[in-house]
Amino acid sequence: MFLGLDLGTSGVKALLVRGDGGVIGSAEAPLRVAHPHPGWSEQDPANWITAARSCLRSLAAEHRSDIALLQGIGLSGQMHGAVLLDADGVVLRPAILWNDTRASAEAAILDATDHVRALSGNIVFPGFTAPKLAWLATHEPDVFARVDRVLLPKDYLSYWLTGLLATEMSDASGTSWLDVGARAWSNNLLSASGMRRDQMPDLLEGIGIVGALRGSLAQDLGLPESVWVVAGGADNAAAACGVGALGEGEGFVSLGTSGVLMVARDGFFPDPATAVHTFCHAVPDRWYQMGVMLAATDSLNWLSRIVDRSPAQMTTELGDTVQAPGSLRFMPYLSGERTPHNDSALRGGFIGLDIAQTRADLTRAVLEGVSFGLRDSLEALKATGARPDSLLAIGGGSGSRYWLDLLAATLNTPLDLPAKGEFGAALGAARLAICGVTRANPRDVMTRPEIATTIHPDPALARACDDAWQSFAASYPNLKAIL
Ligand code: XUL
Repeated sequence: MFLGLDLGTSGVKALLVRGDGGVIGSAEAPLRVAHPHPGWSEQDPANWITAARSCLRSLAAEHRSDIALLQGIGLSGQMHGAVLLDADGVVLRPAILWNDTRASAEAAILDATDHVRALSGNIVFPGFTAPKLAWLATHEPDVFARVDRVLLPKDYLSYWLTGLLATEMSDASGTSWLDVGARAWSNNLLSASGMRRDQMPDLLEGIGIVGALRGSLAQDLGLPESVWVVAGGADNAAAACGVGALGEGEGFVSLGTSGVLMVARDGFFPDPATAVHTFCHAVPDRWYQMGVMLAATDSLNWLSRIVDRSPAQMTTELGDTVQAPGSLRFMPYLSGERTPHNDSALRGGFIGLDIAQTRADLTRAVLEGVSFGLRDSLEALKATGARPDSLLAIGGGSGSRYWLDLLAATLNTPLDLPAKGEFGAALGAARLAICGVTRANPRDVMTRPEIATTIHPDPALARACDDAWQSFAASYPNLKAIL
């Protein structure tokens, strides 16, 4: 038996699976995000432990005989967050999360520093970890002076489980401190943001074993002794393990809070100018690239709060037949944008509102605007040489068939829709634990889910979406000019 423990932004999920990958049960606990100032986004790591403890205890209580056979726990989690520990391993301040934009000025300075893009393979986005520490040095110098170690969010859970400080390649890739091509910490990158090598945790591959579960904790949680904790992966890399996206060109499009278009690569092919992320995969000797848009389902959720209808009611109201995009455009930059604009100050808007338009027209425009943003990511990915021939569609938004038909046409790419079941980051984390403990070949363990249906782009709709995407792309400089 193996456990995957996924630390998301809105909750923790634990998934119990057999050695053959079959799912036995799961437990979830919610998390809240604090926004104490505009652009700030924080969580108290103590709340992650409370949530993880509740998930593990409830799984242990519900599946007593299966849990007794537990061999390993793998981790996955939200990327880029800074968990700051003092010399006694005590958390110094709330963790600063991936969607926090307070460090945009520091990010711009680091990004313009010699060798930073070349070594890290990426733009230094404001949400990455290094600029957060540079911000801290200026704004909270007393805290900065006491920072003994920096951990990424899921690695704080592995520290709680084992007492050991470790991370792995896929999460370390999002710090701007890793030489992503060489899969090693870079002293050059560390010193660019005033950090030292000894402040970094040990660096493992995702299938590397961090250590044994602490005996006292095992008792407290109702877990057996002799359980290995495996390093795991960043949420997107772990999700790729969950859907079997390991080989060149295999990928997914995720309609979650953030929108992600991810493609696995055989090698390291960075192209920071595209604003594509180029990161180590959670399995050895592999990399992946992704475009990230910051507000995907978040855009629909925003409109849903304003019109006081659930997102499901709003998409159902559109009926089954996808209409070609009209003249109303939604620019989905409610939280700024990463790919392709790298602009945390950018904001969204509706362009072309008409007196005759209804709630359904606004909903349609939002689904289109998010799809166009993902098309931008696809174009950026293609510019790096990535060639996704087909993509799995995952994430909460993929529950809307209307949105999927529209997205397939906008990307002009077939979308494979997995059959109901588990295939997310928690499953990926459990699969990494299986490989870490049993030394199984990741290719044998990280298989593709059963596909319920493949959505082929409708040619006429694809042409109309292409025209509308061109006008969307042309609107960006005008929007930028008035902000
Ligand atoms: C990826 C990113 C987000 C978070 C969300 O670069 O910032 O996808 O990992 O959990």
